[in-house]
Amino acid sequence: MHIGRVVGNSVMETRFRMNFGEPLQVGEMLVVENETSTERYLIRVMDIQHGADSEQKDWMVTYAGQVLRGDAVALEHDLERVRQQLFCAGLAIPLGCIGANFRKTKTIPNHFSRVRRTDITDYEFLKESLGDIQVGNLRSGDQVLDFPVGITGQAIPHHIGIFATTGMGKSNLMKNLALSCMQLRKYGFLILDPHGEYYDGGEAKKRGLRHAGRPDALVVFSSRKLDGPYNSLYLAASEIEISDLQNLYEFSEPQKECMQSAQYRYGDNWLVELNDRSVGTIGKDLGENKYHEGTINVIKRRLENLFRLNLITRDPKLSVTSNIIDSLHSGQVVLVDTSNMYETEELLISTVLSRAIFERNKELYGDKEKFDKLPPVLIAMEEAQRVLTEAKGSIFAQIAREGRKFKTGLCAVSQQPKLIDSEIISQFNTLFILGLADRRDRDILQNSAKQDISQLENEIQMLMPGEALIASPFTPFAVPVKIHLYEEYLAKEAGKGAGRPAPRPAPDRGFY
Ligand SMILES: Nc1ncnc2c1ncn2[C@@H]1O[C@H](COP(=O)(O)OP(=O)(O)OP(=O)(O)O)[C@@H](O)[C@H]1O
Ligand SMILES: [Mg+2]
Repeated sequence: MHIGRVVGNSVMETRFRMNFGEPLQVGEMLVVENETSTERYLIRVMDIQHGADSEQKDWMVTYAGQVLRGDAVALEHDLERVRQQLFCAGLAIPLGCIGANFRKTKTIPNHFSRVRRTDITDYEFLKESLGDIQVGNLRSGDQVLDFPVGITGQAIPHHIGIFATTGMGKSNLMKNLALSCMQLRKYGFLILDPHGEYYDGGEAKKRGLRHAGRPDALVVFSSRKLDGPYNSLYLAASEIEISDLQNLYEFSEPQKECMQSAQYRYGDNWLVELNDRSVGTIGKDLGENKYHEGTINVIKRRLENLFRLNLITRDPKLSVTSNIIDSLHSGQVVLVDTSNMYETEELLISTVLSRAIFERNKELYGDKEKFDKLPPVLIAMEEAQRVLTEAKGSIFAQIAREGRKFKTGLCAVSQQPKLIDSEIISQFNTLFILGLADRRDRDILQNSAKQDISQLENEIQMLMPGEALIASPFTPFAVPVKIHLYEEYLAKEAGKGAGRPAPRPAPDRGFY
């Protein structure tokens, strides 16, 4: 049954009049039936306005005045008297034409075409563009449809952004992405968790990745004690490079040169040697009077800080880096919990691991047979605005620019996309846009999205927690989705799974 009729049209905008009393929401998707063909137009409501039939200009204002005067003398107002004159008009953007296939709208429907609500058969065309990494259900306004929505694994090396104001559902979405990856075993997913919320949910009523019931697909590294199987987190001093330290500290030119000389002089062990030797010995080793004592001292003080942490080991065999890379390459989800660390340590881990993954994939690129078999790897970084601020120099900026070729993608999670460098953010092809309160944050996403989302401003402002738009070049338009609430979804899956065979036992890999 139709709910309205088209009253005005241009190719870029459809206006329609609604039946009186019919509810309508911004963000709702509707179908316009073209009476002379089997083609339908799919439209999305951008705005809703009041209207009234009257020959008198501004009749609504005049009539409201009468009603108010009646209110003043406690006269009951009877809407029925004018009901026939009143209507709501919807203002919508055409998303495309549904026919033998789905295509951009280049025509307009006939005058007074019927407008109706959609049902899931109208979205059949979307199935081929929605990928296997499922995160929720299609949404029309706030109505959730029985139509699963996800992103394709192809999107991974093209980078993914998850952007929302605090409390709008970023972490919940991440858990859903991880759950899907654990179920699929086709993609490597590294989650760097500075808040300690992904292992067991962090809070009493929440659930984490350990509750997903896929121990074969999850490998956990942590520097704090966890209540369950996990591996201790170590980096070898020999795998830390000057560029990694530059991500953490500002170094002057002489300080950088001094570290380069030390690396040249001491080889792989440069960090340990710089830390262990005295300023005098280092000065002599690197060339008498070449570096000022103060320069060497600054470097040594910073290294002392790093070595004070239990994180850095002198024994390269203890490093977890290659285990992590192997797990990712076998399609597992790797969770690195850094929640008991200071920011410097946490960033060091993120930098070293991301660089190592990127470099390993780059190496493998030369071996076509191996490279073809490699699953795409996604590196998720919370509060990504911290490391995506300057286009040059940082490993994250480099992955954003070059990762596509080497099957390495970044998943940037941020509350403040406006702080991310605009050149870097434009490399993020798939954007999960959840509720964003700040206009500047919305603006930067509108400018970098691969679809025109400029007309979705109203809708983005109205998103509730867990409601998102997925803008990506892999779908014909920005897809509205209600992300599963992770805890609820797990409970539902567990209910369905009763009676199913137990999951495969974990392969014996020597680490959890
Ligand atoms: N898909 C969803 N469905 C229903 N409720 C949700 C959904 N996602 C999030 N919420 C609600 O919002 C709360 C906050 O979600 P979440 O912790 O994922 O937000 P966040 O964006 O990560 O916040 P922060 O910026 O503080 O880390 C959840 O505890 C839950 O109550
Ligand atoms: Mg969060």
